[in-house]
Amino acid sequence: MTETRHKITIEGAGVSFDCAADDTILRAGLRAGFGLPYDCNVGACGNCRTKLVSGDVVSNWPDAPGLSPRDVRKGKILGCQCRPTGDTTIDVRLDPGMAPPVPPRKTPVRLTSWKSITHDMFQFDFQGEGPVDFVPGQYALITLPGVGAPRAYSMANLPNAEGMWSFIIRRVPGGKATSWLFDSKQAGAVAILDGPYGNAYLREDNPRDIVCIAGGSGLAPLVSIVHGVGARAAMQNRIRFFYGARTRDDVYDRGLLASAGLSAGRIDQTISLSEGSASGDLRAGFIHEHVQQALQGQMNEFVYYVAGPPPMTDAVTRMLVIDNQVDIANVHYDRFF
Ligand SMILES: Cc1cc2nc3c(=O)[nH]c(=O)nc-3n(C[C@H](O)[C@H](O)[C@H](O)COP(=O)(O)OP(=O)(O)OC[C@H]3O[C@@H](n4cnc5c(N)ncnc54)[C@H](O)[C@@H]3O)c2cc1C
Ligand code: FES
Repeated sequence: MTETRHKITIEGAGVSFDCAADDTILRAGLRAGFGLPYDCNVGACGNCRTKLVSGDVVSNWPDAPGLSPRDVRKGKILGCQCRPTGDTTIDVRLDPGMAPPVPPRKTPVRLTSWKSITHDMFQFDFQGEGPVDFVPGQYALITLPGVGAPRAYSMANLPNAEGMWSFIIRRVPGGKATSWLFDSKQAGAVAILDGPYGNAYLREDNPRDIVCIAGGSGLAPLVSIVHGVGARAAMQNRIRFFYGARTRDDVYDRGLLASAGLSAGRIDQTISLSEGSASGDLRAGFIHEHVQQALQGQMNEFVYYVAGPPPMTDAVTRMLVIDNQVDIANVHYDRFF
């Protein structure tokens, strides 16, 4: 059976690409190597908004929060949610800096194993076919059995020839995907993985020392980044690792980062509890306050990787870019909607 494909033209740019009828415009454009603007890929951030010039689309999620009623009145659509029903023209500004470092593709994967990281975060491992390729810091979209829409999860491992994809996932009370994962724990269950996606990935040619700032399950991509630095002999950057947890129960085992093989002098960790008191090497307070305190006067010397829930990433990026005039080109972040 031949797959139905439609032609997507980008007005003014003189380029077009094919989009399968069951694919979204954003993901098809990224598969074709174009630098389309986006962030979350799940309908929440609005960064993939584009103007529909001609043709028709259907949205996987018509009520997605990334599109306001005003956007709809102005003829805007979310590239990450819309599928074309015929040839379509859109108006969007391409950014070569957003071109994917690895073209995303869909592949079936099988849930093979899981282990506890904290009381409500587990590492889940999926086996796929063929080598796994991504840049540390990126995420994949996973469609789990019976959970309609895909969910975004950041890889916590490294690219590998064995076909292994590992994720660190926090249980969200009442959440559809995480309830399926944590309650059923069905070894052998088949999911569809689509990726890699995301722009907050390790820039290995940036010689600056690295600051990683994670909140909650934002740990996942930063564990991958730390291991990615450890695996690259050419990278000698030092890493300052900051982790914001709610309580002592939310703190991961330090062995998680130690296995990256970085010498003690190349990485240090600061962990802060937003709802607990300081004890031992655990601090109290919000993590962005500790980053500010620790790096005062030298903020502009680092490259930053930030991941976690939007209130935490927003507080961190505001502190870096607005309060301390850190160049946004050196701040890479993923908001976990
Ligand atoms: C870039 C990115 C990376 C992430 N990485 C991680 C990670 O490494 N670890 C982790 O634990 N979490 C991560 N998350 C959060 C994760 O994707 C889920 O939001 C979270 O696990 C809750 O999912 P749930 O199904 O249990 O909850 P639910 O409340 O059932 O679902 C919430 C999610 O589903 C989407 N959604 C809800 N309804 C629809 C619909 N009708 N159509 C389409 N989408 C819908 C929402 O946008 C939201 O993302 C990441 C999120 C993003 C955006
Ligand atoms: S990338 Fe489409 S709404 Fe975030």
